[in-house]
Amino acid sequence: MRARTITVTVNGTAYECAVEPRLLLADFLRGTLGLTGTHVGCEHGVCGACTVLVDGDSMRSCLLFTVQLDGCRIETVESLGTLNNLNPLQEAFREHHALQCGFCTPGMLMTATDLLRKYPLATDKQIREGLSGNLCRCTGYEHIVKAVHAAVTERAR
Ligand code: FES
Ligand code: FES
Repeated sequence: MRARTITVTVNGTAYECAVEPRLLLADFLRGTLGLTGTHVGCEHGVCGACTVLVDGDSMRSCLLFTVQLDGCRIETVESLGTLNNLNPLQEAFREHHALQCGFCTPGMLMTATDLLRKYPLATDKQIREGLSGNLCRCTGYEHIVKAVHAAVTERAR
């Protein structure tokens, strides 16, 4: 099938790229742009590891074709902070031991980013419901919920 040229903005940078119609967004981000912070687990929309924001809403990048995103604004985990300059949510994850292997973490962070933008004072119920679509094999979730609570409390100050 013939490649189609699209324009997307990823983490604030505009790209014009020719993409094959069947190229998944996760593969575009990781393979074409080298943004390997977005992880791929189940590859069929269940685990949430591949979550990114598209025009401000969290979405599974393993379920989207890149060609669908012409004109869209995408945010990945790389947009949040750097190793030496974590953003407050990442800092809360570090502080509250909200990760072990870290495989689910990029998806958790992007889902929580979406949640906190929409509900800056999210309740425990909203946090738990908001994260319920992201699977973690390691942490038992409590520390992740604690970290998001801490980010909410920090914002409320
Ligand atoms: S890799 Fe996309 S939801 Fe699991
Ligand atoms: S920290 Fe290992 S899967 Fe979540």
